[in-house]
Amino acid sequence: MPQIQIQEPVKTNGVRERHGAAIAELERKYPTRRSLLLPVLWLIQEEDGWISAETMEEAAEICECTTAEVMEVVSFYQMYNRAPVGKYVLGICGTLPCALCAADGLYEYLKEKLGIGWNETTADGLFTIQRRECLGACSEAPVMLVNQETETRLTRAKVDGILEECRQGKRKPYFTGRNNKQ
Ligand code: FES
Repeated sequence: MPQIQIQEPVKTNGVRERHGAAIAELERKYPTRRSLLLPVLWLIQEEDGWISAETMEEAAEICECTTAEVMEVVSFYQMYNRAPVGKYVLGICGTLPCALCAADGLYEYLKEKLGIGWNETTADGLFTIQRRECLGACSEAPVMLVNQETETRLTRAKVDGILEECRQGKRKPYFTGRNNKQ
C-alpha cells in the first residue's frame, strides 16, 4: 500500500495571530525570549501536528534567535515532528527492555496491518508510526505511545482494540488545529 504524508496542503504560518494570547502568557512566565522556544514550538505542534520551515522562521522571530537555532532544537528533540503526521501517532519504544519483550514484533504487526513503515503515514491520514526511546514504563513492556497516552503490555488483541478506538474517533487526536480535517 503506497503511503503519503498528508492529504491536504498544509498552511502553517500565522503563529503570532493564532497563538498570541498563549505566547503572551508564556512571556510572563519565562525569563527571556529565548527560553520561550520549547513551549512556543509545542504550541505550534499541538495545533498543526508538526513544525514547518515557515513556523520555524516565525518561532525564531518570536524567540529572538536564528532559524538555524530553532532547527537545531527541532532536530534534537524526538518529540518535534519535521513533517506532517497522522491523526494518531503510534510511538513504539525501541529501547532494549521493550526490544527484549517483542517490540519488533509489535512494529511488524502494525506495519502489516497499516501498510506503513517507520515515519510513514497511512493514505487516509489516520496513523503514523514512529520509533521512540525508552518511555519510562520498562517493567510493562512492550510499550507504545498513542499520541500522548502510554499503552503498556501490548498484545496483538490490545493493539487491534486501540486501532479500532482511533478509527471510531474515541481517542483524542494528536493535533487539534485547523489542519486536522478529520
Ligand atoms: S525500554 Fe521501553 S519503556 Fe523503557
